Amino acid sequence: MPIIIKTKDEIAVMQQAGRIVATVLEMLKLQLRPGMKTAELDVIAAREVVRLKAKPSFKGYHGYPATLCVSVNDEIVHGIPGERVLREGDVASLDFGAIFRGFQGDAAITVGVGTINAEAQRLLAACEGALQAGITAARPGVKLGAISAAVQNYAEYRGYSVVREYTGHGIGRQMHEEPQVPNYGRPEEGPELKEGMTLAIEPMLNIGDWRTKIGRDRWTVSTLDGSLSAHFEHTIAITDGEAKVLTAL
Ligand code: MF3
Ligand code: CO
Repeated sequence: MPIIIKTKDEIAVMQQAGRIVATVLEMLKLQLRPGMKTAELDVIAAREVVRLKAKPSFKGYHGYPATLCVSVNDEIVHGIPGERVLREGDVASLDFGAIFRGFQGDAAITVGVGTINAEAQRLLAACEGALQAGITAARPGVKLGAISAAVQNYAEYRGYSVVREYTGHGIGRQMHEEPQVPNYGRPEEGPELKEGMTLAIEPMLNIGDWRTKIGRDRWTVSTLDGSLSAHFEHTIAITDGEAKVLTAL
C-alpha cells in the first residue's frame, strides 16, 4: 500500500474527527480520579463518542474488546479497561480513536491519578515534549526519519528509552496506513514528507530500557523491566508550513 495523500477537504474532515478525539480525552482527564475503575473510563468514552456523532475506532479492531485503551504505570499501550482500580500516584495512559464521516482521529495522553511523584512528572513532561519535538520536525521536504530522530534525541537526552516494537503510523480512512512512524532512527531515513500526508506520531518512553512484554490477555504491552512508561499521541497533517495538529481542541 502506498502513502495516501489527502486533499485539504479531507484534512478538514480529519480535523473534525480529531477534535472529537481531543474532546473525549479532555473529558476523561477531567473525570479521572483515585478509586475509579478503568472500565468506568471506557463507559464514558463510549457514551461521549456517540454523543459527538462519531464511532469508536478501536472496538473490534483485530478483536480489541473496548472503546479505549488504559495503560497503567509499567503498562505501555493497549491496556484493556476493566476492574482495576486507579490509585493516587498512578499514571494512566489513555489512548482513543474515533471515526467521523469516514475518517479517523487517533490520540493519547498520559495523566497522573491525583498527585504523582517528581520522577513520574518528569517522565510525562519528557514524553509530551518528545511528541512536540517530532511534530516540530514534520515539514515537507524532509525525510520521515527527521520525526523519528527528533523524538529519540529529545527522549534519550533526558535519560529515557523509546519503545521500538510499536510505532506511529499513517492514518486516514484507515486507522493504520503507510508509513510506519518509528520513534527512533536517523534523519536521512525513510520516505520524503509531502503536503497532504497525515500521520499519527506516538512516542512511548520508559524510565528503564525499551524492551516490552505482552500480558496474558494477549493485548496489554508492559515494560519488561517493570519500569514506568508514558505515551502521548497526536494525529497531524503535513502542510506547506508547520504541521497541523488535528487532534487538538
Ligand atoms: N493508538 C493505537 C494505535 O495507533 C491504538 C490501537 S489500539 C487497538 O495503534 F486496540 F485498536 F488495537
Ligand atoms: Co495510533
